Amino acid sequence: MAKDGIILYSSKTGYSKRYAEYLAEELDYTIKPIQKANLFNVSCYPVVIYGGGLKHNRIDGLRGIIDGFKYLGDQTLIIFSAGLASLNDDLIKQIKAHNFPEFMSDAYVYQPLPGGLHRKDCEGNGPVAKEVALYLQKRDEHKKLTRGDKLALAIAEGQTPDQDRFDTSACATIIQAARCHV
Ligand SMILES: Cc1cc2nc3c(=O)[nH]c(=O)nc-3n(C[C@H](O)[C@H](O)[C@H](O)COP(=O)(O)O)c2cc1C
Repeated sequence: MAKDGIILYSSKTGYSKRYAEYLAEELDYTIKPIQKANLFNVSCYPVVIYGGGLKHNRIDGLRGIIDGFKYLGDQTLIIFSAGLASLNDDLIKQIKAHNFPEFMSDAYVYQPLPGGLHRKDCEGNGPVAKEVALYLQKRDEHKKLTRGDKLALAIAEGQTPDQDRFDTSACATIIQAARCHV
C-alpha cells in the first residue's frame, strides 16, 4: 500500500539523516536522500517532509524543493533544519527570510531541530572540511558569520568540545503537523 508521506533529506554530518530516519519510523513514511528523489513522483504523497543542515542560516539542499514546488499541489509541506545555534523568534524569522521565497508564503510548516558537530568531521577528508576552510577564510576577511557558524568554527579549531544535541522530542511539532493532514 502506498505510504501517506515521504521524507527527503540532505545531510553532511548525519544529523538531518538521523532525524529523517526517526520520523520515517514514527510516521511509517518512505525515506530518500534528496539526490535520489524525483520531485514529480514525490508529488504523489499527501505529506512531504524535507530536512537539511543549517549553514550560514541556509538550509542545505532546500533549493531542490523550492525549484520543484510547482509540482506540489495540496500536499502538506514540512521543512526542518538541523543546526547548532540556539534559536529565538528573531533568528527563526531570519532563517525563513533567507530560505523561503515569497511565492511559498505560508504554504509550509518550518521546524528547526538541534543538530551537532564533531571536530573529526571538520578535518582532513571530513564531510564539512571544505566548508569549514571557506568559513575560516571568511572570518579572516572579517566577513559576517552567524552564531552557528562561529560555534562550528570553534569546534573545528578545538576551542569548543564536540556537540551532540540530537533530541527526538524536538520532532513533536513535525509529527503532529504530519498527522493533521487528513
Ligand atoms: C561551516 C559550517 C557552518 C555552520 N553554520 C551554522 C549556522 O549558520 N547555524 C546553525 O545553527 N548551525 C550551523 N552549523 C552547524 C550545522 O548546522 C550542524 O552541524 C548540523 O548538525 C548539520 O546538519 P547535518 O548533520 O545534517 O549535515 C554550521 C556547521 C558548519 C560545518
